[in-house]
Amino acid sequence: MPRLLLVSNRLPVTVKADARESMVIPSSGGLATGLRGPHQRSDGLWIGWPGDTSKLKPAQLAQVNQELADLKTVPVQLTASEVSRFYEGFSNGVLWPLFHYLLQRVPIDVHDWDAYRRVNYRFADAVIAQYREGDLIWVHDYQLTLVPGILRKALPRAKIGFFLHIPFPATDVFRILPWREEILDGMLGADLVGFHTYGYLRHFAKSIVRSLDASFSIDRIPYQGRTVRLGVFPMGIDVASFEKLATDDDVLAQVRSIREEAKGQQLFLGVDRLDYTKGIQYRLFAMERLLEREPKLRGRVRLIQVAVPSRERVDAYASFRRQVDETVGRINGTYGSVGQAPIHYLYRSFSQRQITALYRAADVMMVTPLRDGMNLVAKEFVASRTDGDGVLVLSEFAGAHSELGEAITVNPYDIEGMAASFKRALRMPEEERRSRMRTLRERIQRHDVHRWADSFIATMEHLPQAEPIGDTP
Ligand code: G6P
Repeated sequence: MPRLLLVSNRLPVTVKADARESMVIPSSGGLATGLRGPHQRSDGLWIGWPGDTSKLKPAQLAQVNQELADLKTVPVQLTASEVSRFYEGFSNGVLWPLFHYLLQRVPIDVHDWDAYRRVNYRFADAVIAQYREGDLIWVHDYQLTLVPGILRKALPRAKIGFFLHIPFPATDVFRILPWREEILDGMLGADLVGFHTYGYLRHFAKSIVRSLDASFSIDRIPYQGRTVRLGVFPMGIDVASFEKLATDDDVLAQVRSIREEAKGQQLFLGVDRLDYTKGIQYRLFAMERLLEREPKLRGRVRLIQVAVPSRERVDAYASFRRQVDETVGRINGTYGSVGQAPIHYLYRSFSQRQITALYRAADVMMVTPLRDGMNLVAKEFVASRTDGDGVLVLSEFAGAHSELGEAITVNPYDIEGMAASFKRALRMPEEERRSRMRTLRERIQRHDVHRWADSFIATMEHLPQAEPIGDTP
């Protein structure tokens, strides 16, 4: 198999540093979690940003760089201003909300766009420095949409793949972006462009017809003398690793202690990065509605909501955090008592082991994003239920919904409907729970992350080599 160069904004590990010490810890989010396994198995390199290393002293930096090299990663450092304009400003202040249809959150700033372009060139340079003839280059996600186009010019015959981990929005939403042509042109530098769902692929193809005036048959776009292939590759998870943890004695002991601590209450669970796209706020409103409507449930149910800190310096995230804090406070103030609170809100990171214990302990898993490219948490929950029990409540706006039809489907904007679905989930008979879970488990086992990565790589490998770009328009 050819050597694989993975390229993503965030490396699978992040450097956390203060004046006294530095640590290299696993990154959160679907991309890092999902690609960690394929990277470890391959003989390639992972090129990306290791997080803010500006506070490190020279000796600390040398040690961190050694650790990163041992992990077969190549760091691309960003300055404080690039973090603010490229990462926080354009990637997470503009593209992220726009691609998730949250239009009121999109401020357009030309300086942030300039920084986005500059940093995309820097990532491409780092790839070019590592590239050897025959390597496969696989670029990931919305932060790096221009990289394939830049690479195509520098390495005309290289095999380049691009995968978008977030939704590609409808054309009328995408065309709000003043730099829509540049973004499409960048993505089309790849030989293969992959999406989680057919809907995202169709939106992308339609945007091309509209903005670039190119024609296409649904999975092939003739572009600048080459043929770009489009494909649907729904990402999976490392099922075996969750199954192993879910049957580990130590994890099972944690499950027992979570259940004992709940003193017979039924457990709802939410696990998300603290992000306004994840629907945490509306989920809390729906819990509040349930407690309001069903006095008998008060004191009998508990929601454990894990919120992993994320993008804390982006204003929208900081203000969203305050809103969530306030909502949790209000619900607990109204429906809690001296000995109990309905919402157990945990704003921090947890290890995969601890999260697996929570998945195993839960009666009902709530995955209710307003919009989500895939959502791997839903799949992690299912993988962890080796006991065959548990109910998944899933938003119809998560990419995972097209594969996990046996979940209870909710519209995350419909508070009343969600409250009714939560009640239904609590009351679902054991036989029905088990039968739904059986089908869900079979499906995620068949389509795990290894199969996802292998099929993308195999498709890329078998594409004919690109001819150098000539003068063809
Ligand atoms: C999502 C994105 C990833 C990103 C992750 C964590 O899963 O698709 O590209 O890495 O969120 O976000 P962060 O900004 O911390 O890298």
